[in-house]
Amino acid sequence: MKILITGGGRGIGLELASFYAMRHQVSVTVRDERHANKVASLGARPLFLDLNQQQSINDLAKTLNGEAIDILIHNAGVLHPEGDLDEVDAFNFAHSIQVNALGPLLLTQALLPNLLAGQTRKLVFITSLMGSMSDNGAGSYYSYRASKAALNSVAKTLAVDLASDGVKVGIYHPGWVQTDMGGPRALIDVGTSVAGLTARIDELDETRSGRFLNNDGTPLPW
Ligand SMILES: NC(=O)c1ccc[n+]([C@@H]2O[C@H](COP(=O)([O-])OP(=O)(O)OC[C@H]3O[C@@H](n4cnc5c(N)ncnc54)[C@H](OP(=O)(O)O)[C@@H]3O)[C@@H](O)[C@H]2O)c1
Repeated sequence: MKILITGGGRGIGLELASFYAMRHQVSVTVRDERHANKVASLGARPLFLDLNQQQSINDLAKTLNGEAIDILIHNAGVLHPEGDLDEVDAFNFAHSIQVNALGPLLLTQALLPNLLAGQTRKLVFITSLMGSMSDNGAGSYYSYRASKAALNSVAKTLAVDLASDGVKVGIYHPGWVQTDMGGPRALIDVGTSVAGLTARIDELDETRSGRFLNNDGTPLPW
């Protein structure tokens, strides 16, 4: 199978890349040489992508022109840690929306021909429970919560719109994971998170498409 993972130079993306590179043909997006070398050492193909730049999305689509993608995993993400309302900043808010929601939507648009050329047609979004309205009991993190809520909406809409093309959409919370983003106090390590995520991706089919799930398969509230 041919798999593309965004943001695979570190964290959950790197663990996903390492898991799939042992079994499949994997391409991984990065933003610098150092991470490109790390990805190449796994036997995966590094590709450059900055989701904050439309030109970079276009360039990636051009590079992949004509290539099938069986599983497209949108993993890259950014978190600006506003604690309180007075820390909210217009640039950070727009940046979060761009990288976490609009970028994945535009990348999906650009790579749809590749996905339709694939056999399995699985489109996966690594989102966050922090994008859930019902689960929000703690507040704060305005830009991250809003951007992941937007991503959830985008992913659910794609599940509806692309169902007739046989595209199955996975919308997964990876857990609170020990990465640069999750921090050292997080509850699970990347191996545990990725074991769950890859099991979800394996079982993704028409009946499960468009559902918001935890990495262990538990349904989550929107
Ligand atoms: N860790 C958690 O507890 C947790 C919980 C819920 C959801 N998530 C989600 O899981 C995904 C992976 O998170 P993580 O914990 O592995 O985070 P991480 O360690 O901070 O890694 C983030 C990844 O996204 C990439 N990225 C950031 N901005 C980008 C941009 N503009 N264009 C392209 N790539 C970009 C980074 O690339 P660079 O190395 O170039 O910066 C890096 O590869 C994210 O979507 C995150 O929101 C994580």
